[in-house]
Amino acid sequence: MKVLVTAGPTREAIDPVRFVSNRSSGKMGYAIAQAARDAGHTVRLISGPVALEPPADITLIRVISAADMLAAVEENLAWCDWLVMAAAVADWRPCHPAAHKLKKANGPPLIEWEPAPDILATIATRKKQTQLFCGFAAETKPCADEAIRKLREKNLDLLALNDVSQHDRGFDADTNALTIFSADGQRHHLPLASKSICAAQLIALLEKKDAKIK
Ligand code: CTP
Repeated sequence: MKVLVTAGPTREAIDPVRFVSNRSSGKMGYAIAQAARDAGHTVRLISGPVALEPPADITLIRVISAADMLAAVEENLAWCDWLVMAAAVADWRPCHPAAHKLKKANGPPLIEWEPAPDILATIATRKKQTQLFCGFAAETKPCADEAIRKLREKNLDLLALNDVSQHDRGFDADTNALTIFSADGQRHHLPLASKSICAAQLIALLEKKDAKIK
C-alpha cells in the first residue's frame, strides 16, 4: 500500500523569531511510518519540526505551519491508499504575523487569532472509496462521544483516542495506549506498550480494514 503519514507539531509564526506550537514530539507518527515501511508498504512522511532522525527508506517531506502541512497533504492525497494524520496541527494562528521582531519596550503584544486550516475537515469530501483515513484525537479528558464525533465529522475510517494528560502516553512519551474507534462501530484497545508496538498494531488494523473495502 501507499501510506501517507503526518507527524509532529506545526508552528504558527508570531514574528520572525517567535511561534505558537504544542508538545507533540512526532514519535508516534514516526513510529507509524516505520511500522508501515517494516510491513512492506511505501511511505511518505509529512513532518512538522521535530528532533528525530529521518527514517530510512521513507520519503520525508518537512513542513512548518498548518498551511504548509495542508498543502503537502493535498499534493500527496491522490497518491495514497491510506492517510494517517498523527500530527498535532494548530487550531489557531496569529492573523498578522509581524514582519520584524516585536520589541519588548513596546509592551506585551495583543495578538489577533484566526482558525488554522483543519486539514482533515478540508479533505474529508475528497476521500475515495478505496482510501482509508485515520485520525488521532489528543485529549486530556478522553471521551468516547467526542472521539466518535471527530470520526464522523472528519469522515474517518479510524480514530485513535490518545490520552495526553499522563507522562507514560501521548505527547513525547516513548510508550502509548490507544483506543481505536472504527466507523463500523468496532473499538480496539491497544494497551500500554512502546510506540513501535502500538504503531505495528495500528498498521495491522489498517491492513484488515483495507482487505474489507477492496
Ligand atoms: N487535525 C487537522 N487539522 C487541524 C487540527 C487537527 O487535520 N487543524 C487532525 C489531527 O491531525 C487529528 C484530528 O484532526 O488527526 C483530531 O485532532 P484533535 O486536535 O484531537 O481535534 P480537533 O479537531 O483539533 O478538536 P479539539 O482541538 O477541539 O479537540
